[in-house]
Amino acid sequence: MTTTTETIRDFVTGDFRTAAVFDKYGLDFCCGGGLPLEDACRKKGLDLEAIRRDLAEVVATPSSGIDDPTRWDTGKLIDHIVGTHHAYVRGTLPTIVKHARKVASVYGAAMPEMVAIADLMDRVVGEMGSHMDREEKVLFPHIRRLAEAAAHGYLRPAAPFGSVTSPISVMEAEHREAGDEMAEVRRLSGEYTPPADACTTFRVLYEELAQFEADLHRHVHLENNILFPRAEALELLEA
Ligand SMILES: [Fe+2]
Ligand SMILES: [Fe+2]
Repeated sequence: MTTTTETIRDFVTGDFRTAAVFDKYGLDFCCGGGLPLEDACRKKGLDLEAIRRDLAEVVATPSSGIDDPTRWDTGKLIDHIVGTHHAYVRGTLPTIVKHARKVASVYGAAMPEMVAIADLMDRVVGEMGSHMDREEKVLFPHIRRLAEAAAHGYLRPAAPFGSVTSPISVMEAEHREAGDEMAEVRRLSGEYTPPADACTTFRVLYEELAQFEADLHRHVHLENNILFPRAEALELLEA
C-alpha cells in the first residue's frame, strides 16, 4: 500500500524494478528522488493514479530477489557500478558525442537546439570521465576498505580526505549537475522526439540519449541511495 509521503527514491530503493516506471514518465529517481510521488506528479502534470497502477503491477510481479542491489555486499555493488555503468558510459559517450556533432552540423542552422545538445554532451563527456576516475581511484577503494574493516572487526581505515562525507558531497553535486544537463537535453529534444524528416543518425542519436539518461539514473541511484548511505553508516561503526 502506498502512502502520499512515499518518495520516488523510496519506491526504487524498495524495489529496483520500479525504476522502469519512473523512466516511462520521465521522473527522476536519483537526484530528484527525494520528492514525494504525489508532489512530483503535480509538478510535472502527470496522472498520479496511472503511475500508481503501473507501480502496483510491477511490484506484484514475482521476483527472485537476486537482482535486488540493496542485498548485494559492498564489493559486489562497486563491481557492478564500475563494470556495468562506468563501462557503459566510457563505451557509449564518445559515439553519442560524435553523433550529436554530426546532427548539429547538418541540422544546426534550422534547429539551433541541436547545437545546444551537442555542447551539453561535450560537457557531460568531460565531467563524467573525471568523475568516474575519482570514484574508482579514491572513493570506491576507501569504501571497500571500510566494508572489509567492518566485516573483520579491524580498525577503520584512515582517509586523506577526513570523513567519507566530504567526497560523497562532491560526487552528489556532480551527479546533480549531470542529471540537470541530461534533463535539459530531454527538454531541448522534446522528450527525444525526432522530427518527421529526421535522418537515421538523428533518430539513432535520440535513442542513444534516451538510453544514456535512463542508465545515468540507475547508476546515480545505486551510488546516492545505496552505496553512499552505506559508506557513511560503515564509517560510524565502532571497530
Ligand atoms: Fe559512478
Ligand atoms: Fe558517481
